[in-house]
Amino acid sequence: MAGQYRSRVSGIGSYLPEKVLTNHDLEKMVETSDQWIIERTGIERRHITPEGQATSDLALEASRRALADSKLNPEDIDMIIVGTVTSDRQMPSTACYLQSKLGCRNIVSFDLNAACSGFIYGLSIADQFIRTGMYKNILVVGAEVLHRFVNYKDRETCILFGDGAGAWILSRANEGDNQVIHSSHMHADGNLAELLTLPGGGSLVPPSQAVLDSNMQYVSMKGREIFKNAVRAMAQCCQEALEANNTAPEQVDWIVPHQANKRIIEAVADQFKFPMEKVIVYLQETGNTSSASIPLAFDWAVQTGKIKRGQTILLTAFGAGLTSGSILLRY
Ligand code: UT7
Repeated sequence: MAGQYRSRVSGIGSYLPEKVLTNHDLEKMVETSDQWIIERTGIERRHITPEGQATSDLALEASRRALADSKLNPEDIDMIIVGTVTSDRQMPSTACYLQSKLGCRNIVSFDLNAACSGFIYGLSIADQFIRTGMYKNILVVGAEVLHRFVNYKDRETCILFGDGAGAWILSRANEGDNQVIHSSHMHADGNLAELLTLPGGGSLVPPSQAVLDSNMQYVSMKGREIFKNAVRAMAQCCQEALEANNTAPEQVDWIVPHQANKRIIEAVADQFKFPMEKVIVYLQETGNTSSASIPLAFDWAVQTGKIKRGQTILLTAFGAGLTSGSILLRY
């Protein structure tokens, strides 16, 4: 990819609300079992945002931590991108609320909806703005309060999703710095859009009593179809990243995949004969947090000493759309 400058990850942070919903809690709400959920997904618990708090509140905590890690101040940030499907309000963007709460300058701030690929899409867009020289420090956030859009009577979906936020700051790298983002790739296949939707409340089916009566305000998903497409899309995106950088799987220290289902992650790793010991799995703690899942897993891996500065990392995601993407970077 051409460009005058390169981006480096100058700071990371994440945030999970304190309250936890365990598999055992769900056993009391729908016909399911801890054993089924663990065997079929790997998830043990997910975190739930308290009443009165919204996506921008989670994003704020994660962003403050990323700013502290980068040793930058809110005034240093030139642009904010928030990947989310659960924005505080339909309008305005969560990014504008976050800008105000952080005390940033009057900078460009916007949300993007690429579902679970939102963080990858956000990093890729930020990387382009840094490469051209337009901006120096960009805050990219993935944040979701998914539990408010999940039907706790639908056992196929309610066991999967949780709340959380993760934030990275991409900064212009110094010349010769090799701890940079090497490549980003993004895709979308709108022909598969109906496999995973939030059908009610938009312009096609606006809010109404009928929407509430038919539970159309909640996530609707064809799980098995999503599963197959997720494995295919993430494997393709990994392959694309490796080929674009002339990199062999053995040269990658860690894969940090979207945290949706442990079996999906294992199937992707298997396609590259990539050992699971080098794949970050954090979904046992978080469930699927959509756009927040990769920065949450990444931060946890750094905090626990797995991922270290200087290592080569491959990020990959898929989500509703169906969107997908990958990023290869040296951290
Ligand atoms: O970020 C993208 C978001 N979405 C995803 O990543 C979802 C991807 N898909 C999946 O993770 C899996 O398809 C699920 C976890 C949703 C389901 O697992 P599965 O192994 O594909 O199960 P299945 O849909 O084939 O269902 C097997 C059985 C069914 O019963 P019958 O028809 O065989 O009698 C389901 O009704 O398991 C049943 N089942 C459950 N049983 C206990 C479905 N959900 C549950 C549950 N507890 N929570």
